[in-house]
Amino acid sequence: MKLSVVGTGYVGLVTGVCLAEIGHHVTCIDIDEIKIEKMKNSIVPIYEPGLTELMTKNMEEDRLVFTANHEEGFKDADIIFIAVGTPENEDGSANLTFVEEVALSIAKTAKKDTIVVTKSTVPVGTNDRLQILINENKLNTIKVEVVSNPEFLREGSAIYDTFYGNRIVIGSNNEKAVQQLTELYKPLAIPIYSTDIRSAEMIKYASNAFLATKISFINEIANICERVGADVEKVAAGMGLDKRIGSAFLKAGIGYGGSCFPKDTKALIQIAGNVAYDFELLRGVVNVNKKQQRMVFEKLVENLGNLQRKKIAVLGLAFKPNTDDIREAPSIIITNELTKAGAYVCAYDPIATENAKKTLDSSIVYAEKLEDAIKDADAAVILTEWSEIKNMDLNIFKSMKYPLVIDGRNIFELSDIKKLQIEYHSIGRSTINSYDQLSLNS
Ligand code: UDX
Repeated sequence: MKLSVVGTGYVGLVTGVCLAEIGHHVTCIDIDEIKIEKMKNSIVPIYEPGLTELMTKNMEEDRLVFTANHEEGFKDADIIFIAVGTPENEDGSANLTFVEEVALSIAKTAKKDTIVVTKSTVPVGTNDRLQILINENKLNTIKVEVVSNPEFLREGSAIYDTFYGNRIVIGSNNEKAVQQLTELYKPLAIPIYSTDIRSAEMIKYASNAFLATKISFINEIANICERVGADVEKVAAGMGLDKRIGSAFLKAGIGYGGSCFPKDTKALIQIAGNVAYDFELLRGVVNVNKKQQRMVFEKLVENLGNLQRKKIAVLGLAFKPNTDDIREAPSIIITNELTKAGAYVCAYDPIATENAKKTLDSSIVYAEKLEDAIKDADAAVILTEWSEIKNMDLNIFKSMKYPLVIDGRNIFELSDIKKLQIEYHSIGRSTINSYDQLSLNS
C-alpha cells in the first residue's frame, strides 16, 4: 500500500520506518525542512535504538522517502497517518492546533479516496470533529474516512513495540476502513481490537492513566513501607505474583515522567471535567507523582542539612533509561531545587546530556564519566536506572567526601550495599548506614 505519515517525532518516524519494513511504500512528511533534509541523508533526529539502521535500509530499498511538501506527500496515498504532537495547554488540556492543521491540509490537497488514521493522542470526540472539518473543507469530490488508531509505543523500545505490541486498536464504524487497516497491519501478527471511534480514543487515555495509577500506588506503598519497616521490593514481588495484579509497573521510585504519562493524565482529568465529572482518583495520582518527584531532594536535605556549596553528584538525567528524553523528568525538579539551595551540581548521564544542557540550570556542570561526577561529592543521588550506573563498581563511592547515596530507583541490592562503608537511602526500603558504624568501631 502507499502510505503517508505526517509528523516525524518518535511516533511518526518509528511508525513510518516500521511500516516500510513490512513492505509498504511510505512517505514521511514534516514541516521542518531542516529535519527532512537530515533524514534524507540518513540522520535520525531522535535517539531510538536501532532506528538509524532500519531507516537507512528501507530508504536504500526504495520504500521510504521524506518530504516537507504536503501536496506531494499526499498525492498517491491510500492511507494518511496523522502523528503530529498534541502538547499540553496551560490548563492541562491537549493542544490540537497541529492535528487540525494537518486535517485541513488533507482536505485541501487530497485528490483520491483516502483513509485518515489518527495516531496522535487526542481527546475523545476529536476524530468525529476532524471528520466534519475535512468534509466541510474538501476541495474535491472524494471520500475521506477518519479512523482512530492510538499508539502504545514506549520510548527506547518503540521498534520492538511496533512489531510485537500486545494489541492494535482500530476505532471506526466503517467496515471497509477497518478491513483495509487490518490488511495493512497483517504482516505484524498482532491481535487487532476494533471498536467505535470514541472508545478507541478513550482506550489510549485510560491505558496510560491506569499505568500511571499503578506507579503512584506502589510509590505510596513504598512511603508507608519506610515508616513501618517493610520492604517495597518484596511487597511488589509478592503482589505481582497475583495474575490479576501483574508485576509490571510496580517499580517504586521517584515517579513517572516523559512525554506521555504527565500530559495524558492531566488531559484525561480535563476531558472528565469538560463533562462535569471530577476524576478524583486520577487527580490523586498526579499529586502523588509531584510529591514523589521531589523525594530524593527531601531525603537529601533531611540527611545533609544545609546544601550551600556542597557538591552533589546527580547520576542519570533522562526520565528513564535508553532515551535522551528529559521531558518532565524528575531530574528537572531535583536539579532546580539543588541549585536554588546553593549546591554545586555535577551531573552525569550517558546519553541525555545535550538535551539537559538546553533545559536545566546553566550552573550545572556535566561530567564526562560517572567517576568524575562522584569524586569528592558530599552526596550522590541516583535518578535514572541506566545499566551503566546499575553495574558500576560500588567501590567508586569510596572516592566521595562523605559516602551518602540517595537512590531514587532502588538499583542496588541492600545485601551488596551492606558490604560497603556507605550511608544509603532508597525508596520504600530500610536505610543502610555502615559508614558511621564502621568508622565508630575502628
Ligand atoms: C508510555 C507508555 O508505556 C506507552 O504505552 C505510551 O504510548 C507512551 O507513554 P514511555 O513514556 O516511553 O511510554 O515510558 P514508560 O516506559 O511507560 O515509562 C513511563 C515512566 O514511568 C518513566 O518515567 C518510568 O521511570 C516510570 N515507571 C515505569 C516507574 O516509575 N515505575 C514502573 O514500574 C514503570
